[in-house]
Amino acid sequence: MAAANYEKPDFWSVKARKEGYPARSVYKLEELDRKFGILKPGARVLDIGAAPGSWSLWVLKKLAGRGFLAAVDLQPLGISPGNENFFFIRGDLYDAAVKSALAGQGPYDVVLSDAAPSTSGNKGLDTDRSEAIVEAVLDYADDMLKPGGCVVAKLFMGGGQRELLDRMKASFTTARAFKPEACRSVSFETYLIGMGRKQAT
Ligand SMILES: C[S@@+](CC[C@H](N)C(=O)[O-])C[C@H]1O[C@@H](n2cnc3c(N)ncnc32)[C@H](O)[C@@H]1O
Repeated sequence: MAAANYEKPDFWSVKARKEGYPARSVYKLEELDRKFGILKPGARVLDIGAAPGSWSLWVLKKLAGRGFLAAVDLQPLGISPGNENFFFIRGDLYDAAVKSALAGQGPYDVVLSDAAPSTSGNKGLDTDRSEAIVEAVLDYADDMLKPGGCVVAKLFMGGGQRELLDRMKASFTTARAFKPEACRSVSFETYLIGMGRKQAT
């Protein structure tokens, strides 16, 4: 029955509300970090597609005043952390001025992207747009990630996953896809994780 699909999302949403996060997506990042050891103490982090702000809030808590977080989204954040080690720019990740402002805060140890296009109901169009976002995020990683750094990018699974992972394997020691427990069971999203950015040649 359709109701079964909503059992898990309700659990994560209720947990997020109780723990003061504006979105349930925080538990996807928490699991990714638990599994891959993404966030190290004192890290410099870029969060692309950050609104309403659960991932950013979680990263800031985990950094505990050390390190730095820059974030970008088309939408305003639903959090106001007021930390000195936090920079937010409202804008389009494809905008050269936005990219340059974020480059000015780098280089980064970690580039995170939970950015997703608004869904149109046309799966082909949505996955194409999601793949384009991942390509753009990998361009950010090429330009702004320190050697040894890592990238995490959300992808709506269409046909492009293998090509994206091949691109990542050229510049990261390891590259793989992983779908956290907190993803809705009906969702076709996954996360691509590149660890150990190779030295640029
Ligand atoms: C699933 S939400 C991110 C949730 C966030 N990680 C959190 O935990 O609160 C996806 C976000 O991607 C943003 N986004 C999509 N396309 C974007 C673009 N071109 N530039 C900047 N942000 C974008 C959307 O505005 C949306 O807020």
